[in-house]
Amino acid sequence: RSSENNELLSSLEQANVYFQQQLRQHPARNKAVAYLKSRGLTGEVAKRFAIGLAPPGWDNLLKHLDEYKIKRPIQEKAGLIIARDPERQQERQDTHYDRFRDRIMFPIRDSRGRVIAFGGRVLGDDKPKYLNSPETPVYHKSRELYGLYEARKAARKPERFVIVEGYMDVVALAQHGINFAVATLGTASNTSHLEKLFRLAPEVIFCFDGDNAGRTAAWRALQASLPAMEDGRQIRFLFLPEGEDPDTLVRKEGADGFLARLNRSGSLSNYFFEHMQQDIDATTMDGKARLFSQCIPLIKLLPRGLFQQLMLDQLAQITGSQRDTIDRLLQQTPAAAP
Ligand code: UTP
Ligand code: MN
Ligand code: MN
Ligand code: MN
Ligand code: MN
Repeated sequence: RSSENNELLSSLEQANVYFQQQLRQHPARNKAVAYLKSRGLTGEVAKRFAIGLAPPGWDNLLKHLDEYKIKRPIQEKAGLIIARDPERQQERQDTHYDRFRDRIMFPIRDSRGRVIAFGGRVLGDDKPKYLNSPETPVYHKSRELYGLYEARKAARKPERFVIVEGYMDVVALAQHGINFAVATLGTASNTSHLEKLFRLAPEVIFCFDGDNAGRTAAWRALQASLPAMEDGRQIRFLFLPEGEDPDTLVRKEGADGFLARLNRSGSLSNYFFEHMQQDIDATTMDGKARLFSQCIPLIKLLPRGLFQQLMLDQLAQITGSQRDTIDRLLQQTPAAAP
């Protein structure tokens, strides 16, 4: 099994070298380079993130990997090529075709820098905007963070990480010298992402897009963060203006503007109580009851410690209740499903 994994990794590495080569050599490179420039990226950053080009056509990579004697089942299992439906297979057509065609390629690397998957972006407005590698024996997307390897190469001991939504957000921030951004790969951020980051730095800031999807993701991220909130760790939330994402914002406001926003971002506790009180009047009895019933199962997910105690103090203060009452409720209430 591990020898198969090595074959998968080496096919992915070959593909990565190939895509980067195509960005330098292929006739379609001009359009691709113009696109990257239009997004504000320099060759230096493109190189740092090993950005490449999957040229137009159905079998460019496939033929290349064939030449390098990489077996089709390995190419397929690595997520690089797709088997044609045998029923619909026309005569003289190949058994497989390239998954990534006519796209800007972002390699996803593991913590050791090995390429384990790709994300590919169309150069225009076609759909889907991003195409990603499937889950494979070497790629489990819910465990990986795009840009983490590059961030660690830029700073051995970063003070903090920012979690953003997209490839382009990570790369655009790096283009402006903000080298501590990572992105979840089209999955919700989970506790294992946080554990990974907290092993390296004491602070994590979530910064999702300024749209409804981003705000929904932020609240889900808060819920997933609660079990990871050991004392000494800090989680903050940066909310962006409507319609902006970290890429558009850093290009408008520059690194200083973005860093200033990061430094003003709110704490997990602020966001928690603000969100909870949004449509609750905590001066009425039914308002208090609702607040308790919504807050306590979540506060119960926190590790026992100072932070949990402070959150309970805050809840007592907001509702004008005794801590005794709250502690009793805490004991009686089951924790929310994590
Ligand atoms: P966004 O649509 O916000 O991406 O999706 P973005 O980075 O801002 O895109 P552009 O290039 O600036 O227009 C955020 C992330 O969601 C995943 C990708 O990981 C993307 O980076 N996604 C998005 C997909 O997997 N497929 C899609 O079609 C769209
Ligand atoms: Mn595995
Ligand atoms: Mn969005
Ligand atoms: Mn976005
Ligand atoms: Mn964007």
